[in-house]
Amino acid sequence: MGIIYNEKAKSFKLDAGNSSYVMQVFDNKFLSHIYYGKHVPDTDMSYLLGPISGVAPSKVPGFEVMAMDALPFEYPVPGLGDYRDACLEIQTKTGHRVCELEYDSYSIYSGKPKLDGLPATFGNEKECTTLEIVCKDPLLNLEVVLRYTVFEELNVICRSSVIKNKGSEEIYLKCALSACLDASGQDYDVLSLHGAWAKECQLTRQSVNANRVISESSRGVTSAQSSPFMALVSKEVNETCGDVYAMNFVYSGNFYASCEAGQSGSTRMVMGINPNNFTWKLEADSLFETPEVVMVYSSEGLGAMTRTFHDLYRNHLIRCPYGNQDRPILVNNWEATYFDFNETKLLELATEASKCGIEMLVLDDGWFGARSIDDRGLGDWYVNEDKIKGGLGKLTKDVNGLSMKFGLWIEPEMVNPNSDLYREHPDWAIQIPNRTGKLSRTQYVLDWSRKEVRDSVYAQIKHVLDNAHVEYIKWDMNRHLTDLGSYDLPSDRQQELSHRYVLGVYDIMNRLITDFPDLLYENCSSGGARFDAGVLYYSPQIWASDDTDAIERIRIQAGTSLCFPLSSMGSHVSAVPNHQTGRITPFETRGIVALSGTFGYELDVTKLSQEEKDLIKKQTKMFHKYNHLVRNGDLYRLSDVFHPEDYACWSVVSKDRSEALITFVQIHSRPGFFATGTNIKLQGLDPNAKYYVEQHVGGIEPIGTDSESVGDQEKRQASGLGGMESNGVQQISGAALMNGGYVIQRVPGDYTAQLLHFVRVKE
Ligand code: DGJ
Repeated sequence: MGIIYNEKAKSFKLDAGNSSYVMQVFDNKFLSHIYYGKHVPDTDMSYLLGPISGVAPSKVPGFEVMAMDALPFEYPVPGLGDYRDACLEIQTKTGHRVCELEYDSYSIYSGKPKLDGLPATFGNEKECTTLEIVCKDPLLNLEVVLRYTVFEELNVICRSSVIKNKGSEEIYLKCALSACLDASGQDYDVLSLHGAWAKECQLTRQSVNANRVISESSRGVTSAQSSPFMALVSKEVNETCGDVYAMNFVYSGNFYASCEAGQSGSTRMVMGINPNNFTWKLEADSLFETPEVVMVYSSEGLGAMTRTFHDLYRNHLIRCPYGNQDRPILVNNWEATYFDFNETKLLELATEASKCGIEMLVLDDGWFGARSIDDRGLGDWYVNEDKIKGGLGKLTKDVNGLSMKFGLWIEPEMVNPNSDLYREHPDWAIQIPNRTGKLSRTQYVLDWSRKEVRDSVYAQIKHVLDNAHVEYIKWDMNRHLTDLGSYDLPSDRQQELSHRYVLGVYDIMNRLITDFPDLLYENCSSGGARFDAGVLYYSPQIWASDDTDAIERIRIQAGTSLCFPLSSMGSHVSAVPNHQTGRITPFETRGIVALSGTFGYELDVTKLSQEEKDLIKKQTKMFHKYNHLVRNGDLYRLSDVFHPEDYACWSVVSKDRSEALITFVQIHSRPGFFATGTNIKLQGLDPNAKYYVEQHVGGIEPIGTDSESVGDQEKRQASGLGGMESNGVQQISGAALMNGGYVIQRVPGDYTAQLLHFVRVKE
């Protein structure tokens, strides 16, 4: 296991989980990719280069260019004959743009280094091993260190690079991507995630061919339009079979991912910071570190890929203490009141909510400065005492008096022109001097590449948090970057602004969680426009979408949870008709869909009927019963949840396979279904164990379920009855449930949902 160097073949083999990754120094010079896939024992697989070996520059002098466009490279550069997408592009002071990387040396060590100022996965010396390969351009005195960390228990390889200018003159980095995979063959599809506001993370699948497929953002944030995920998959791939080579970027700004079939039979996929709007001036004797790309391999389809990402992110990325803990059930006042609230209204909401089992009130936008509507106040982080008499200190005390926690919304990266902050510091906004910046939601983005701007805003936020008992922060970000210009950067560094901005965001997120380690922290960007692994490092949960419609949420949550654990996915029950779609769905369905996320409410509890309030009481109990499973279990998609037609079904199975929670949402009711039901083949159970349905919510309940207490079940199990029990609860083997399936009885009506809890019979 781990990483092996074969001295004779000059090759490296990385073993991660049950996958292997092999590279080789080709022709004594070029670091080439040879193999990625299921575990192999071999360390020398150079035979796979086949005919390419014949055109090695040293063997056929005079034909170097031919080899360049055929070789599979680990960190390709342009200008020497490789016309596919490159990882590194430079420009010298003389204006030339060629650099030639030659293999130089390597080191292997246990553990994983931190990335300076950047979020990254972490692991200790027992969990992971790191390989650093040094390549050099001797003429430029440029050194590139390629880092590969393997997680021994997971099919994961994390990559980043460090580019060092060891010369005496500056070099401009025009492109510095983090990873390249030159996969062998071309018979692939490529998966990526795209969308829009309130429609995030819609899965797209297309064929790989010579036309480059690009997924990117140049909006300053990862964006709702594209997510930094790309996967090459074999044509037959589905949830349970086929090869998957996935990349996910641990970064929260402009990104670029592409995929293309080259002319020599391989397929190149790259990922990194978007070269568009990026040039980095690398002074003599300085370095640039690229953010991390996480590569996951699965030979068992998309389901296994998802579970690998979830395990990695839960255990090796989310660093806040809440990562693995119970989270309070919250009610957020945004869709309940928008800007129209005062302390009386908030306390009424909290009082009713607490009676239903809700545990935290989150005060959203509108509590500060002159913020009565959205064209003012951003930048002025002091409480508006016209709206909240007595201030936040008093409000938090009153809310705590109801045995509820208190959470608060902030949008620290922004400023309205109509604010004290902007009036005092108009040059603190990202803008080009003498050009009027474009407004979006009547706001500008603050220039967080500048430390004094960050310090000033952070001091205000810290003051608020120091003076009120705030236990949760929702950090929002509601516009994209335009008018890229910083009043502070010299002309040859203006193109660094977007990346410096992201580093500034990370700096403040880091200060926040360092100064307030117990704070539960949720990120948000007009919904899920910054739902990425970079943010997840700081923030254990992220608001997935402003679209709270339960039916729309099926696709959004499926796309989001392709890489991200359910425990990270902000998901609330909201009022109907839904504010984004106008759709009316049953209260139960909204609760059942939200249970597959962090769970909470986003509605005015004071306006609900008694029946609905009773449902909240049931749902909050259900949350406490099942959240440990949702948070820690393995996700299995049991239907096409990315493009659901009549129904969507997924399950979460505990790691020890002792229980499984199945969610079934009926999107359309069709007549024939009532007679037959829908057969769902479960996954991930113990084939040799027996299971029974312990609780069934929202459907036609099998005898002896739901109303029964856990104590009753235990007594019944202890009696050791097998097969159909005397009290009518059927025991079914895991093998039967996975191969024969389980028939979900359909109920009349669109948008109904069912939740089935399967429990393993104790032996
Ligand atoms: C956008 C967020 O996604 C919403 O949840 C809400 O917080 C608003 N911003 C407030 O302005």
